Order: sequence, then structure tokens, then C-alpha cells
Amino acid sequence: MSVVGGRRHDLCRLHEIDDPGTRGFEIDLDDTRSIRLFVVRRGELLAAYRNNCPHTGAPLEWLPDQFLDLGNSFIQCAIHGALFRPEDGYCVRGPCIGQSLRRLTLDVRDGHVGVLLADEEFNERPAAS
Ligand code: FES
Repeated sequence: MSVVGGRRHDLCRLHEIDDPGTRGFEIDLDDTRSIRLFVVRRGELLAAYRNNCPHTGAPLEWLPDQFLDLGNSFIQCAIHGALFRPEDGYCVRGPCIGQSLRRLTLDVRDGHVGVLLADEEFNERPAAS
């Protein structure tokens, strides 16, 4: 995926994300808006998604930085239990089955994990809550 006009935001060092594990982040877009995202790591897999469930737009985590189910097999929404595949964010069970989390592009340099945010991420109107 190419990111036209993408802006890199440094998140953390790679070793600060457990394997398997997840870590959540919030990035300020300007003085009034921010976006939530999380990174999932499992073996060779390292992926980032917007932290908004396709069902209602709510954040997914059970506890801070806790997005995986008990078996570390799926990303699980804490509200109604939807299960998403870590490798592509596709929902395999729950009220939003067949929909997907919105994936973001990661950029790892010298052990530092960053995310590239496309211009559309900045121009999007916030979801109603
Ligand atoms: S808000 Fe995530 S499954 Fe309903």
C-alpha cells in the first residue's frame, strides 16, 4: 500500500511490544483531534490497525495494551466479543463478521516502530459516538 503524502509517527521500539502481544497508541492530529491505533506482534507478524471496532467504532481493548484473546489467537473486541484475524484484521466471528479493521502501514527502522499516516487519516471526520 502506498501512502501518498504519508507522515511517519514514531511509536516505540520493537522490543517494547511483547511477542505475542499488542500495544495501543494515540496520535494527536492537531489541537482537537487524535486517532487511536494498536500494533499486534506475533512471530513474524507485525501489523497496525485503527483502534475502532467496525461494529460501533468503539475501541477494542480489554485493558490498556490488551487486544488479543486469551489464547493470543485473535484480536478480540471487549464490548461484544468480535474476533479478528491478526494478519489481516478480518472479522471471523461476532456482530461485524465479514468486515475488517482498518489497517495502517508500519515502518520499522533501526528497531524503531513507526506508522505512516496517509492524508486521508487527517482529513477524516471523527466517528459519531
Ligand atoms: S463494538 Fe466490537 S463487537 Fe460490538
